[in-house]
Amino acid sequence: MDSTTQEMKKSEMVQAQAHVFNNICGFFSSMSLKCAVELGIPDIIHKHGKPMPLSDLVEALSLPPSKTEAMYRLMRLLVHSGFFAKQKIDENQEEEGYLLTISSSFLLQNTEFSLAPFVISILTPALVKPGHILCDWFRTGESTAFETDHGIPFWRHLMQNPEYEKGFSNTMATNSKLVMSDIVSNCKSVLENLRSVVDVGGGTGTSARVIAEAFPHLKCMVLDLPNLVANLPGKNNLEFIGGDMFESIPRADAIILKNVLHNWGDDESVKILKRCREAIPPKKEGGKVMVIEIVVEEDSKLENDQLTKTQLYFDMLMMTTFNGKERSEKQWEKLFLEAGFTDYKITPLMGFSSLIEAFP
Ligand SMILES: C[S@@+](CC[C@H](N)C(=O)[O-])C[C@H]1O[C@@H](n2cnc3c(N)ncnc32)[C@H](O)[C@@H]1O
Repeated sequence: MDSTTQEMKKSEMVQAQAHVFNNICGFFSSMSLKCAVELGIPDIIHKHGKPMPLSDLVEALSLPPSKTEAMYRLMRLLVHSGFFAKQKIDENQEEEGYLLTISSSFLLQNTEFSLAPFVISILTPALVKPGHILCDWFRTGESTAFETDHGIPFWRHLMQNPEYEKGFSNTMATNSKLVMSDIVSNCKSVLENLRSVVDVGGGTGTSARVIAEAFPHLKCMVLDLPNLVANLPGKNNLEFIGGDMFESIPRADAIILKNVLHNWGDDESVKILKRCREAIPPKKEGGKVMVIEIVVEEDSKLENDQLTKTQLYFDMLMMTTFNGKERSEKQWEKLFLEAGFTDYKITPLMGFSSLIEAFP
């Protein structure tokens, strides 16, 4: 081995070891992000309006001065991860202050497309703990690691924890606003000729509200579990219906299934899709099911591409929590054919989801 080859081997080894260690300690990425959101750091820096010195940040957070160095270290990691930037406070001073980046602008509370509720709902111990017992779960027959850990399925856990349920619904609602705004502004034609639509598993109606406002002549219905929609008042062209999507779905020109099928395995998903097909008119009369979900890039050449990683992380979340999955185009096609659909069309949306129109 000549010295160049030896050097290369050495640097490859260092890189490989760093890769392993970064994945071992990667949970600090998630936890430091959670800490920043819980402390409200993005909002405080945003409110400051200019680069914020560490000392001001510690004071604004009402932390004991003894935590200043720890805060510096937390912020150093978050700057490295791209959540904050550093900039000189003014031209004539050496001191630097923290600024938001585009990523942390999504972590501001109470903004239309805030991902802060996601951080809190997903990084809750109830969802993180099942990750610790994946190995046991692989060896036992339980349907999900969540159930192995908690003894009950996720949906029952939600019902038993109303506070968490509120946060979870809030999380889904934020995502719905983002995705549905994209659809009503950039894919308007998919809704334009419809007279009625049911958002199945539509939660507290965020998606349906966006559609109902954009299309005042379209009758919008939300079907969800009775306990979730019991006290939700309808308004104008929006109506809430309590029911079970496995039993029956109200008739409409089109059905929306947003982030529902990824919570379920293939057999259940085919059942839901069959109920949807029974509820819509034939293709020539405009009948369709609109699935809004991830389409996993199976053979992605961009192995480190952020979006592919997001899709794969979400798939793990579905596996550990719901016995569901994120699906590739081939897997979607199989479900549609089994449920009696003849054709489908995929339109990528902003972010990492797609609109899949399935035709009977
Ligand atoms: C992950 S959430 C998606 C909510 C909404 N579509 C969205 O994207 O924000 C799944 C929804 O399915 C509902 N759901 C679960 N089982 C159901 C059933 N058997 N019938 C109707 N809705 C159900 C849940 O209550 C929940 O609101």
